[in-house]
Amino acid sequence: MRPRLAVPLALLGAGAAGIGYAAGVERTSFRLRRVDVPVLAPGSRPLRLLHISDAHLTPGQARKRRWLRSLAGLEPDLVVNTGDSIAHPQAVPAFLDAVQPLLGLPGAFVLGSNDLYAPVFKNPARYLLPDRGDRVHGAMLPWPDLRDGMRAAGWADLTNARSRVKVDGRELELVGVDDPHIQRDRYDVVAGAPDPSADLSIGVVHSPEPRVLDGFVSDGFPLVLAGHTHGGQLRVPVYGALVTNCGLDRPRARGLSRYRDAWLHVSAGLGTSPFAPARFACPPEATLLTLVARDS
Ligand SMILES: [Fe+2]
Repeated sequence: MRPRLAVPLALLGAGAAGIGYAAGVERTSFRLRRVDVPVLAPGSRPLRLLHISDAHLTPGQARKRRWLRSLAGLEPDLVVNTGDSIAHPQAVPAFLDAVQPLLGLPGAFVLGSNDLYAPVFKNPARYLLPDRGDRVHGAMLPWPDLRDGMRAAGWADLTNARSRVKVDGRELELVGVDDPHIQRDRYDVVAGAPDPSADLSIGVVHSPEPRVLDGFVSDGFPLVLAGHTHGGQLRVPVYGALVTNCGLDRPRARGLSRYRDAWLHVSAGLGTSPFAPARFACPPEATLLTLVARDS
């Protein structure tokens, strides 16, 4: 090999290896993250909340379906699904089958834009550019079947709705909005202070747009759960997420953070669009949040 060609070829090889790893290995390296959140009244015993999001399931993803089913072994007290569960017109039965062991537990959900519309090809470079708000939608997916399947199991539909769920002898108030990413959020419909008779009130949204987070936090909600960002999906080691695909700042692209006076948990999610099937330094995940007592 001539020396002048050696470096470009080596870079090309490293790039190809990186793409192969991101698409073939990391994308299916499912992880469970565990985090404690001090939001319960002093003296309360802990509550275990399983947060799943952004499965973007297609019927052929057997490994993801198995991993989702295995999460029931954690025996959480409550499950919250922050949307983008499906990515294919025939994916609803596959998703409901994958979460079937979880559907027997108390739960709640919101939908994301990808539950409503089939994925479409986009220039991958657009993902790394600022979100200009223009949306290209695919065909409508059978999202009513998805919604009805989760509702039939008893999970609370938080689409611009307030709800209450009894969990381990405690009353939880769950309040959600439809996906702000496609302007379907109606915070005005659910706005208001947490119910003082509830043991804990939690805000739920697919895309963590600041206008919704600010609504929840201004009203006094101590915890908000969201998905959508995929944690940045392609992260740069040490630097972190390049983008959040919404108005949230990059350091909050995944995990637990303080957002003004509240805790914000953003799931990096379990999947990707079928047209962008790669993750790097950001393995697919679910999170077991252990809600614990505040100090005071
Ligand atoms: Fe998503």
